[in-house]
Amino acid sequence: MATTPTNNRGTWNTKIGFILAAAGSAVGLGNIWRFPTVMAENGGAAFLFIYVLLVFIIGFPVMVAELSIGRRTQKNPVGAFKALSNNKLFTLAGFWCVLCGVAILSFYVIIAGWTISYFFEQVFYFFGMTDWSAWVANTDNGWLNAGLAILFMGLTVSIILGGVSQGIERAVRYLMPMLVVIILILIGYVMFQPGAGAGFREYLVPDFSVIDMDLILAAMGQAFFSLSLGMGALITYGSYLSKRENIPSAAAYVTGFDVGIAFLAGMLIMPTVYMAQAQGVAIFDDAGSLLAGPALIFQVLPELFHEMGGLMGLIFGASFFFLLSIAALTSSISLLEVPTSYVIDEHGVSRKKAAIGIGAFITIISLFIAFDTGLIDHIDFIFSVIGLPLGGLIISLFLAYVWKTESAKMELQNGFENIGSHWFWPVWKIFIKFICPILIALILATTIYDVIR
Ligand code: TRP
Repeated sequence: MATTPTNNRGTWNTKIGFILAAAGSAVGLGNIWRFPTVMAENGGAAFLFIYVLLVFIIGFPVMVAELSIGRRTQKNPVGAFKALSNNKLFTLAGFWCVLCGVAILSFYVIIAGWTISYFFEQVFYFFGMTDWSAWVANTDNGWLNAGLAILFMGLTVSIILGGVSQGIERAVRYLMPMLVVIILILIGYVMFQPGAGAGFREYLVPDFSVIDMDLILAAMGQAFFSLSLGMGALITYGSYLSKRENIPSAAAYVTGFDVGIAFLAGMLIMPTVYMAQAQGVAIFDDAGSLLAGPALIFQVLPELFHEMGGLMGLIFGASFFFLLSIAALTSSISLLEVPTSYVIDEHGVSRKKAAIGIGAFITIISLFIAFDTGLIDHIDFIFSVIGLPLGGLIISLFLAYVWKTESAKMELQNGFENIGSHWFWPVWKIFIKFICPILIALILATTIYDVIR
């Protein structure tokens, strides 16, 4: 069977190119918006602990699975399942993956739009245009949300049109490190602000008594979301990966980057939340729980930059939101690439028609969300918290029991010749055959039981 690309798929230019692209997909709003928000809702440090644990015991093995299926089949998720099995159930699973991508992208562009509006908020604020800065900062303005989402989707589509490897590689190579540097400087600044200490404590000193099933479920959803797993984004990206690359090592880098950046973002945002409180921003509701909600970081971070004041505030504030929109863009590309490559591969549509058509379709869904941002939490729960782990469960079962680990081994040997004698092999095999599917299934099952009980 042909294992070389037979279609007009691009490949990543270099190993570092692929790692950058996959890291670009992983690092995004999930790290800087979703992670701190979900953590704030779920008891701080204890959440961080469970999250990191699940990233390594579930996320990393599933990432290796997705990449090897993708490189073996050179397909989108629907095509990949079809290529390796005749069972129609898996074709259905492929559709579920595509659907999750569509749903997640529909709210992702709304939040990403806010990163653009807050860039302008910082600029207007600096020039004393307070009416304007207040206007763009209003995340309840439906028309504004809609306009920004359309703008952001337009950017995403235009990059997808150019194919995968250009643009992404460059954006990630230079801009991502800048984001990290800015975050580090900001952490240094926040450390010395009144009120920040309580935030550091909340973030770093775990209270294990708060761990319950809800927290574990949220942490699992976050792990899948942040690593871009469970809907075949990395099957699709793996299909662009050269046979010379060592998949487990590439996956390890991507996982490491992603967790590292989420950790730093938490280091910045938790203390900032408490700092904002010391400044009089309401961060707790009447019942005393954190007012997390989708707009949390968009309320407290601008406060931090205003606090820095003057040109400093502008430089840090504007570059932070600019770089965050770039990070969001390198992620949204991977979300759109899944349905797009599905339509290209399975229905023979041109890249141009596919990208524009699907982009437009998703934007229509986004318009509803623009006017009712309360929908975000619901869509996110169904498709990120339940949908992605479900996809991950199917992918691990598929690899282990349909495609079989021995076939995966043959694929993984490309770029990792001595895998058979390496400790990685037996360990990964146990994880993908037993530990990952059982854990995911257990966590999902208890949740569903809780809901229907
Ligand atoms: N991981 C990205 C983030 O953290 C979001 C994302 C991109 C994603 N592609 C994905 C999430 C695929 C799930 C599946 O912002």
